[in-house]
Amino acid sequence: MPITRRQLLKESTILAAMLTSPWTRAAQAGLTWCSGSEVLQSDGRALLKSQPHPTINPNTLARFVDPLPIPSRAKISGYRPSPDGARDKLPFYRIEMREFAERLHRDLAPTRQWGYGASVPGPIFETQSGKPLMVEWVNSLPEKHFLPIDHTIHGAEANLPEVRTVVHLHGAKAPADSDGYPEDWYIPGKSATYLYPNHQDAAILWYHDHAMGITRLNIYAGLLGLFLIRDDLESALNLPSGKYEIPLVIYDRMLSPDSQLYYPVSLKAGAPWVPEVYGDTIVVNGKIFPYLEVEPRKYRLRILNGSNGRFFALALSSGQPFYQIGTDQGLLPSPVVLRNILLFPAERADVVVDFAGKEGQRIVLKHQSKEVMQFRVLSGGPKETGSLPDRLRPVTAITQSSATRTRSLTLGEYLDASGESILMLLNGLHWKMPVTEKPVLNTVEIWNLINLTGDAHPIHLHMVRFQILDRRPFDIFTYNTQKQVKFIGPPFPPEPAETGWKDTVRADPGVVTRIIIHFEGYPGRYVWHCHLLEHEDNEMMRPYEILHS
Ligand code: C2O
Ligand code: CU
Repeated sequence: MPITRRQLLKESTILAAMLTSPWTRAAQAGLTWCSGSEVLQSDGRALLKSQPHPTINPNTLARFVDPLPIPSRAKISGYRPSPDGARDKLPFYRIEMREFAERLHRDLAPTRQWGYGASVPGPIFETQSGKPLMVEWVNSLPEKHFLPIDHTIHGAEANLPEVRTVVHLHGAKAPADSDGYPEDWYIPGKSATYLYPNHQDAAILWYHDHAMGITRLNIYAGLLGLFLIRDDLESALNLPSGKYEIPLVIYDRMLSPDSQLYYPVSLKAGAPWVPEVYGDTIVVNGKIFPYLEVEPRKYRLRILNGSNGRFFALALSSGQPFYQIGTDQGLLPSPVVLRNILLFPAERADVVVDFAGKEGQRIVLKHQSKEVMQFRVLSGGPKETGSLPDRLRPVTAITQSSATRTRSLTLGEYLDASGESILMLLNGLHWKMPVTEKPVLNTVEIWNLINLTGDAHPIHLHMVRFQILDRRPFDIFTYNTQKQVKFIGPPFPPEPAETGWKDTVRADPGVVTRIIIHFEGYPGRYVWHCHLLEHEDNEMMRPYEILHS
């Protein structure tokens, strides 16, 4: 039964909180989590379940001494014939995954990492909607992993090679054989060449590792990067560009006293997997506490939460707002004014921040009480032209009556006799069980994500984009005893910043989250999963198959 001890204790808290206001309202008001913290995310709980280990306290590091690195652009290495036989030659990139060491902070020793093109984050791809490209992803990593593999996890058995990689372009409408199916991993010395058609709206995509059973370790080691698609509609909006467009890849880590990445391990001998990882050290584009000099004008920030498990509630110390213009799958219908940006792992926010009138100020980007980075506003610069348009990209709602099928799918956590979390499942099914979700290409479905656990889970579907219909609290106890959804409050509409196209949705605890999906693109075998990487690796991932229409 997927009800947890923790839930029994906290259910009343969850329900009370859900009925009065969703988590996000609290986050947006800049509140810290008192009773909510343990439910939504608890550093303390995660720590209790892992071996004690000394780590560097980030509060002992000097603030804002390193400039913010801007990842380089991926470079074309040539042109190759398109694999689909079309006559046009396509831009071809060759990206090597390599081990290297780099300082995360001026006062730390270089940290061993694994990066695409030997940088973390990897080089940024930049392309136009409708312009296909090919990438050869080359595994040039060492033969040994430097993070703790749990061989009791499905897909990471001891007879398999330790170092296995496969690349997924998150948010891409890509053919199945270029999507990075978790079992399509390959070992050092091998590579895979993928085709990305890019027939989709301008958006912030990101590429990352997806190897079965060790994705959490490969991404923690550094295997992630951004992939930006642009289009004419976006260009016509005259948004801040060039040096005024700043990518921010934000994630949390833990560091051992020797400045090396520390990944926590459980208290169980031979089974190091831990259910959640929250590092106290926040890294932006590969640096801790970086600073960026900005002109007193508007900037466009392209933000990714690349953490394994941590959500971010970002705010500016000046109290000024963000203008959120886009979400996972591109532009919102119009800018949303927010003082806090809530991002769960894998979610993206496209935001404009206006530093005009802030000459000489030092503005800190914060996550709750933690400092993340600093903006130093210079006193001059060329005069800014252009203002933020109030219409961006129209988003037509998919009508519920167009759906040919509604699926009810549970999110569950399973405990051992001592109450320790051992795995998480989608709809009670393991990865290896037969495929149960087989939508037909070009049809519309509604998926009801019924969260029976005490945690919020960011749920991601490959290949498609979707819209959030609503979130509605239900009684977990009734569900567990009678397998019936008994709602205990009205549905909440999506947050304003969630009213565009999404590919990852936060499923709150004790809530049915409804999404509506148009399965456009390609037929074939894909996956859907929780993007808390510890969950994803331990069975909270399922194949799904898009059938030919
Ligand atoms: Cu970010 Cu299955 O992916
Ligand atoms: Cu999860």
